[in-house]
Amino acid sequence: MNRLRLGVNIDHVATIRNARGSSYPDPARAAELALAAGADGITAHLREDRRHISDADIEVLSALTRKRGRPLNFEMAVTDEMQAIALKHRPHACCLVPERREERTTEGGLDVAGGHNRIAPVVTSLRDAGCRVSLFIEADPAQVAAAAKVGAQVIELHTGAYCDAVREGSPDAERLLRQLRQAAGDAVAQGLEVHAGHGIDYETVRPIAVIPELAELNIGHFLIGEAIFTGLVPAIQRMRALMDEARAERAA
Ligand code: PXP
Repeated sequence: MNRLRLGVNIDHVATIRNARGSSYPDPARAAELALAAGADGITAHLREDRRHISDADIEVLSALTRKRGRPLNFEMAVTDEMQAIALKHRPHACCLVPERREERTTEGGLDVAGGHNRIAPVVTSLRDAGCRVSLFIEADPAQVAAAAKVGAQVIELHTGAYCDAVREGSPDAERLLRQLRQAAGDAVAQGLEVHAGHGIDYETVRPIAVIPELAELNIGHFLIGEAIFTGLVPAIQRMRALMDEARAERAA
């Protein structure tokens, strides 16, 4: 079975840095370590309120990932401001996400079906600039079909509800996992590459990683949290190993 890529989201290194308004800890240093530890790429979300990653971070991360020949996955809201920044840096990938200032994190998927007219031109302009465009959506057949229709090359399935259900011991977990599997299959059948992310930890990574259609996972908060206890490199190495083991078991 194909190897599953790991994108490490380093936003929350910037969250800690910003708590002191200083330059430490540096997300670029975390990005270098993440790549050395086995991450295939770096993910960063420049939020409208700049609560973690800053414009200067994106400059540095763009240069760093280019120099290392690794992909930068730029998470962005569908706004003129973010579109201009993406077009300036032309990262390997742009992942369009919904964004509301009051939310603590990206709480739901993008409504591509309802926002078709607003999203389609942004997808086209980013694709024309050479970026791979990914849409962060819920595991919903209408959203998958809409993502294919607006011309995205990739979807990223929001795994937050599933991961929360597992952590809470909710009986909904199985159903939510089935929906993720179904959406991944539908998406590949429509010619889309499929990624997944949000809320993934050591427990939830396995059932997600065995979904054969997935090409990439993007994981941030848990890895940065684990870095406090075990260090960033061991945390990424363990996640990488769990992903590889899940794939190997599935193939056996
Ligand atoms: N993928 C997307 C599109 C996201 O917005 C986020 C959170 O920034 C992640 C993945 C990573 O989620 P987490 O930090 O919960 O691992």
